[in-house]
Amino acid sequence: MSVILSPSLLSANFANLEHDIKLVEEAGADWLHIDVMDGHFVPNITIGIPVVNSIRKITNLVLDVHLMIENPANFITPFAKAGADLITFHYEAVEEPAEVISLIHKAGLKAGISIKPNTEPESIYQYLNDVDLVLVMTVEPGFGGQSFIHECASKIPLIKEKAPEKLIIQVDGGINNVTSKICTSLGANSLVAGSYIFNAEDIDAACRSLLH
Ligand code: DX5
Ligand code: ZN
Repeated sequence: MSVILSPSLLSANFANLEHDIKLVEEAGADWLHIDVMDGHFVPNITIGIPVVNSIRKITNLVLDVHLMIENPANFITPFAKAGADLITFHYEAVEEPAEVISLIHKAGLKAGISIKPNTEPESIYQYLNDVDLVLVMTVEPGFGGQSFIHECASKIPLIKEKAPEKLIIQVDGGINNVTSKICTSLGANSLVAGSYIFNAEDIDAACRSLLH
């Protein structure tokens, strides 16, 4: 089974994003994971619409936007216009996940739903036929460089068992060359990794170690 690698730019050099994006492109990354935080849903603030707009101009990689924000529905159109290809929102951040999924699809993008470490997988079973991707967080969202929470990985086979064949199951948080294998052996087929890739001496080798 092929794995979609989505390097998280959160640990890249923000003063030289183009350089870092080209490195992961050359190393075989398929997507770019862009972490958007609002200081409300998570206790941190990162980047937003103008940065996605600029990144869109310099790469053809799939822009995988992970919204860790309240009221994600208000930001679907701006991120779509900026060039996002896929938007993942948090189940915990919304009242009506089905409405947000439908808004993302109406904007012409792929839709993902994410659950935090303390959210049961059962909460999202009813949406598995509507979304394109489920993001299982393997750390508390908010910061890069945290340790993988092993218990979260047990959600992967539960979701996989209920999901249609085409559903992408992505993991995010504490992914390295060891934890990636745990996740893919349980059924994950998309890996997000930030610090493991961008803090590496050899970014190319780090990416390749996740793909093989
Ligand atoms: C955390 C973000 C992640 C983060 C992962 O809230 O959603 O995408 O960048 O960073 P690492 O790979 O360092 O755990
Ligand atoms: Zn993320």
